[in-house]
This record gives sequence, structure tokens and C-alpha cells, in this order.
Amino acid sequence: MNAQQLLLFVFVPALACATMPASRQNELVRTYCTVCHTDAARNGGLSLEHFDAANPDPGVAAMLASKLKGKAMGASGKPLPDRATQDALLEALTAEGARAGEWYVTLTTGPRPLLSSSIVRAAASVASEGEPDLYRLTLTCHPGSHDGEIQLAWSPGVPPQGQPLSAVIDGGQRLEYRVEGMEKMGNGGTVMSGPGALILNADRPLPLPARTLTVSGLFPGGKVEFPFGDMPGPARQPLSSCFAAVK
Ligand code: HEC
Repeated sequence: MNAQQLLLFVFVPALACATMPASRQNELVRTYCTVCHTDAARNGGLSLEHFDAANPDPGVAAMLASKLKGKAMGASGKPLPDRATQDALLEALTAEGARAGEWYVTLTTGPRPLLSSSIVRAAASVASEGEPDLYRLTLTCHPGSHDGEIQLAWSPGVPPQGQPLSAVIDGGQRLEYRVEGMEKMGNGGTVMSGPGALILNADRPLPLPARTLTVSGLFPGGKVEFPFGDMPGPARQPLSSCFAAVK
């Protein structure tokens, strides 16, 4: 073995273990996922048009990894990349999602500034086979117009139509919901699938919890608590202009 061969021998396995480049991750997500998760179609309440693995939102990365384990790759109907590529993508997204359990706050500036604060919680349910279900809560607020939205998304489980769930605010006020509506897949097909997200303040106001928002019932035995007490002050203060405080 000469020196060059030795180098190859040492470096090729090391490279194979290295994280998949962000550009390759973006390319794979665009090919296999964005077809349905566009700004316009937003299947599951999720758009991946702006997903960038070089600057990932940890909550989105964690949800993508969860859905990949749930075999989302095949959803586009395109021939799949090889196993090693699938595994490398999953590994990269899992690493990017490592801090999804902490509040992730972004402020998009421009003519209509948008503040977003999101966090992911995991819970096993009776139905989940080893893989916990992830629940992602996203609060968005246009401070100018006081327009706010609270979205709950989940992965990889899909609850049946009409599934009741409840949200309890600070251990007190309880709001009941039902999972409703089918989604038309955005890839031009006619397949309908259950929803992957719910807007919690769509038809009634949801006050901004001071300490906790507890969600249960979506999957049998699954319950998660979102820690509002931990939300950083710089996010909480402007958010309160879009949501009423708990009385
Ligand atoms: C054929 C259309 C289609 C394709 C392709 C597709 N999805 Fe989805 N996705 C859906 C639908 C419909 C839902 C909502 C129902 C559900 O959860 O299955 C969803 C839900 C989700 C959710 C949970 C909802 C949320 O807001 O977080 C995640 C995460 C997700 N998809 C990730 C992916 C990833 C990753 C890929 C690519 C590997 C992908 N999807 C490809 C249609 C698609």
C-alpha cells in the first residue's frame, strides 16, 4: 500500500460517516417532500419551501426526522434514494433537531414583521410502536396587526377523523377540539390524507398560558405539556400583543 492508498483507506470511511452536506439535504427534501409541503398546499400545515438545512429550524428538523422514520420518503411516489442516503439524511436531520425541546424564536422583518416561537414535545402513546409522537406548537404573531395563530402539529402518527383532544391552560381552563378535515395531497394526486395539524385559536381565542399548555387525547394515552414558563421574555412580551393573557 502506498501513501496515497493509505490516505484513501483512512479518509474514505471517515467521509462516509461525516454529516451529509446541507445542500444535499435541501435537494432531497425538495425532491421528496416539498411537492406536498409548499406554501400553497401546506399539507399537514407545513411548508418546506423555505427549509434550509444550513440554517435549520430545530423543530422542523425534528418533525422531518420523525416523519422520515415513519416512511414519509415514499409519499412522493418517486423512486427512493439508496438506503445509505436515506440514513444519512435522517441522521443529519436528527442532529439539526437536537434542540427542538427548547423554545425557538425568530423575528422576520419587513413590511409585515412576523414573530414566531415554537417548541417540540414528545410522548409515547398506546399506538406508537417504540417511536414517540412529536407535538410541535408554533405561535406566530404580526405585532402590527395583533394577528396571532397557535398551531399544533404532530408526527408521525395520524389520528382518525373526528378524534377529540383537549388543551388545558395553566392547569385550569380546558378547551376541547376535534381533528377534522381531510387534506388533498399537493402532488397532483387524488389521495386524501388526514390532517397533520390544528389551529388552536381558529374559532375561539386562546389566551397565552403563563406556565403550561397541556395537550392530550390526540393519540390514546399520549399527553404533552408545553412549558410556557420557560419562554424567553423577548418572545413572550411581543406575543402578548397578539394573545390575551389568562384571566
Ligand atoms: C404526497 C404528499 C406528501 C409528500 C410527498 C410528503 N408529505 Fe408530509 N404530509 C402530507 C400530509 C397529507 C400530511 C398530513 C397528514 C399526515 O400527517 O400524514 C403530512 C404531514 C407531515 C408532517 C407532520 C405535520 C407537521 O406540520 O409537522 C411532517 C413532519 C411531514 N409531513 C414531513 C414530510 C417529509 C419529511 C416528507 C419527505 C420525505 C414528506 N412529508 C412528504 C403529505 C405529504
